[in-house]
Amino acid sequence: MSNPESLATPWPSLHVSSHPAVLHKLAILRSTATEPKKFREVVRELSWLLGYEALADARVRPFEIETPLEPMVASQLADRIGLVPILRAGLGMVDAMLELMPTAQVWHLGLFRDERTLRPVEYYNKLPDSATVDLSLILDPMLATGGSATAAIEVLKRWGAVRIKLINLIAAPEGVAAVSAAHPDVEIYCAALDRGLNEKGYIMPGLGDAGDRQFGTGR
Ligand code: PRP
Ligand code: URA
Repeated sequence: MSNPESLATPWPSLHVSSHPAVLHKLAILRSTATEPKKFREVVRELSWLLGYEALADARVRPFEIETPLEPMVASQLADRIGLVPILRAGLGMVDAMLELMPTAQVWHLGLFRDERTLRPVEYYNKLPDSATVDLSLILDPMLATGGSATAAIEVLKRWGAVRIKLINLIAAPEGVAAVSAAHPDVEIYCAALDRGLNEKGYIMPGLGDAGDRQFGTGR
């Protein structure tokens, strides 16, 4: 549930969830007391909730079925959905989105952020020559400087994707500003808009490194 009245922002493309279940789960995710197993579980649950919101305008078409009582015209998904998780941290969001949209295609993109420059480095991309989906959902828990998201959007647009949405768990204003300036057509769905970035490019208060916390690789 996006609630524009509770959080006014300068970005029309930004949807920040205000659903109590999202707020409750977000607190668990942020806490240092949360171990990787629980962290992964909550990433999955939040992804489902945000995905549900982001897919509210997916297109459906009528088709005929028979209930035990009579024939009727029901609806089936018409859009071909593409899930684009950004490796590594976006991997944890895929299963939940596939529960929502079992027929979705999954196209992995490998990007990591250079720790010194904070610029994204692409290391994996096996997209076919032209777009095979109508609606692409980029999955990445963190939107910090916006470099990784912008790079992913550019890859998808070169691929031929026309409708793109970005699903993040936590966003920083710097990242939202960067993405919406470069790609105002891309809607952003997140569970929280945090205060800003620290000098190392981490979101404050954030949750730390989303990849390390999911996969137990933090030092
Ligand atoms: C994290 C996160 C985003 C990126 C966000 O990935 O999952 O992809 O940083 O930062 P940005 O908005 O400044 O680009 P990271 O580079 O840590 O890689 P990982 O998922 O492999 O840990
Ligand atoms: N990537 C993360 O995993 N966390 C941040 O706070 C910023 C980028």
